[in-house]
Amino acid sequence: MVRIESSDLDFSGRRVLVTGAASGIGAAMARAFHGHGGTLVLADQDADGLAVMEAELGGSSSIVFDQADLASVEMLSIQAGPVEVFCNNAGVLWTGSFHKMPMDEIERVVTVNLLGAIRAARLIGMSMLERRTGVIANTSSQLAFHGSAERAVYAATKAGLSQFTKSIAAEWAPHGVRVVAIAPGRTLTNINAGLLADSKRHEAGLKGIPAGRYAEASEMARLALLLASGILSYVVGETVISDGGYVLL
Ligand SMILES: NC(=O)c1ccc[n+]([C@@H]2O[C@H](COP(=O)([O-])OP(=O)(O)OC[C@H]3O[C@@H](n4cnc5c(N)ncnc54)[C@H](O)[C@@H]3O)[C@@H](O)[C@H]2O)c1
Repeated sequence: MVRIESSDLDFSGRRVLVTGAASGIGAAMARAFHGHGGTLVLADQDADGLAVMEAELGGSSSIVFDQADLASVEMLSIQAGPVEVFCNNAGVLWTGSFHKMPMDEIERVVTVNLLGAIRAARLIGMSMLERRTGVIANTSSQLAFHGSAERAVYAATKAGLSQFTKSIAAEWAPHGVRVVAIAPGRTLTNINAGLLADSKRHEAGLKGIPAGRYAEASEMARLALLLASGILSYVVGETVISDGGYVLL
């Protein structure tokens, strides 16, 4: 008989690094792993948000870093030390017509979402490879699979991150390191503040989602928790979509 035991979801004694942990999906991930016994290392550029999360999650530590900056990501990997789970989650969105997108914004979105996430996976993953254990869960997006006007560069970075996930998963699985990704649909977080504040755009956005609502950050956190756990131990390299059916249409 197949049973899911509570021990399958027990992260006691395991260190879990979450980037983008000061808000939204990353904060929800940190709460989820903490609730299942994990020792959290919280990382973000937002020092105030991190302080609030560190105070909430007893036994956790926090690191202020900038994912756009290589030296800062290197510092993160040193300060974080060995971790068993890495939620490679920090990201940024720029919305608007591509032909009007400033060059520095193009560079910022690509550097944070793709180059920074790749560098972080490489640096944090090294110590997992040495110890032959660990799980990396990258945060991709539904837009890795679905075109979206006004989010061209963002969608390109997330498609790149999902392709990167497949390839390093194949390289690292033989060495005991499992790499996966989650693809959230539109989720109620700060990244969508502009959209959520505009009732017309908000309503129009809902029409493209069969489930008829935006996601809660906790729904993405539960997906990451399951993927990192022993329950889904044979999932390798996949980007698992949780989008209320958005990519079906
Ligand atoms: N909310 C959605 O609809 C949605 C959908 C698909 C994917 N995602 C992805 O989920 C992840 C989390 O986003 P969210 O929705 O929780 O938004 P959010 O804005 O609430 O959280 C993003 C976090 O990343 C941090 N961050 C941004 N740039 C950083 C940098 N250079 N260095 C360090 N930290 C930085 C921010 O300070 C923030 O705490 C992102 O990768 C985003 O692309 C979100």
